[in-house]
Amino acid sequence: MLDLLIHNATLADGRTDMGVAVHDGRIQEVTAGLTAAQAPAHTRVDAEGQLLSPPFVDAHFHMDAALSVGLPRVNQSGTLLEGIALWGELKPHLTQEALVERAMAYCDWAVAQGLLAIRTHVDVCDPRLLAVDALLQVKHRVASYIDLQLVAFPQDGVLRSPGALALLQQALDRGVDVVGGIPHFERTMADGARSVTLLCEIAAQRGLMVDMHCDESDDPMSRHVETLAAETQRLGLHGRVTGSHLTSMHSMDNYYVSKLIPLMAEAQLNVVANPLINITLQGRHDSYPRRRGMTRVPELMAAGLTVALGQDCVMDPWYSLGSADMLDVAHMGLHVAQMTSQAGMRQCFDAVTVNPAKILQLPGYGIAAGNDASFVLLQARDPIEALRLRATRLKVFKRGLLLAETAPASTTLRLGGRPSECGLVRG
Ligand code: FE2
Repeated sequence: MLDLLIHNATLADGRTDMGVAVHDGRIQEVTAGLTAAQAPAHTRVDAEGQLLSPPFVDAHFHMDAALSVGLPRVNQSGTLLEGIALWGELKPHLTQEALVERAMAYCDWAVAQGLLAIRTHVDVCDPRLLAVDALLQVKHRVASYIDLQLVAFPQDGVLRSPGALALLQQALDRGVDVVGGIPHFERTMADGARSVTLLCEIAAQRGLMVDMHCDESDDPMSRHVETLAAETQRLGLHGRVTGSHLTSMHSMDNYYVSKLIPLMAEAQLNVVANPLINITLQGRHDSYPRRRGMTRVPELMAAGLTVALGQDCVMDPWYSLGSADMLDVAHMGLHVAQMTSQAGMRQCFDAVTVNPAKILQLPGYGIAAGNDASFVLLQARDPIEALRLRATRLKVFKRGLLLAETAPASTTLRLGGRPSECGLVRG
């Protein structure tokens, strides 16, 4: 007897009437037309033709700052630099208890939204390493339902901020998973390049992955991604290094980019764009025309790079909106990148599911026999409808256990004599 059978499901690749059989937390089989009679199970779920997706994955987040909006004051200008200054004002007042409480609250939001794996950067430029200890504690507490991966992020610059290098090493010693960086925030281009080399060497020595905030700028001459790709090649870190943001690529000369992207592809560099934040923080020095600032997502995908769309911020010093909804992120991403072709929209769905799972190197991810029985039933018939509606997460499962349920969205119209069903929300 199976533990769970989901039947009559549509999968993201277009297969319909699919049955997913689950035993002992793992997917035993994925077969078309599988019925309750053929596969008896303690729990049966008729998906009614709705989309069963692997869980959402956020490849770029800042959980130490999440839900802190208004502390100690709101970002009046809404700019990146005021956000960094505001975070600096908040840091001395942080307590471990408050950090843990906010992060745990955010993880509840994430589960409700079917977001079951998150790579969060954690600021290590604090001699107390409060946020590091807080998020290591949170990682342990949520381990049964969220895969939380931590990046040692020197927010104030690993070379620019006194003591930051030693603090970064201490954070890694304490169990932080990934080496971070912020080369464009160092004082000179040369220091930025030096920080990339230094941090990649630390990752190579420790056998860790790298994920750097890289070239989060509108300056077309901010070219640290070139160094990141070259150092990845030199140190043999292929596939283990991620460039986050890369917004300067939006403004770079096209000839230079025609040389850069093949170098990035050779290094098997991963890319994370953060559309909600890039579209709001970039182009702030422009009058009109005003640049969008997001990196070249379709071109990077076409070159074979693994590209994810990340959330970056939710209700923090940089961004007072957000709700742990990766469909919201993908929806913004496809608009900003003009990826409105049928294939483009499906690629954006992949950019918040399978692509970030690959970047985080999550084991057992995806709806296939032998993998973890972790998935989300959406109130939508396919990925494009899921994006259009930012579809309700009807049921969220982790290793065969039901973690969250949300009632289907429905509206009853009161328009006297006309049909009362509202066709906007299908399902
Ligand atoms: Fe970030």
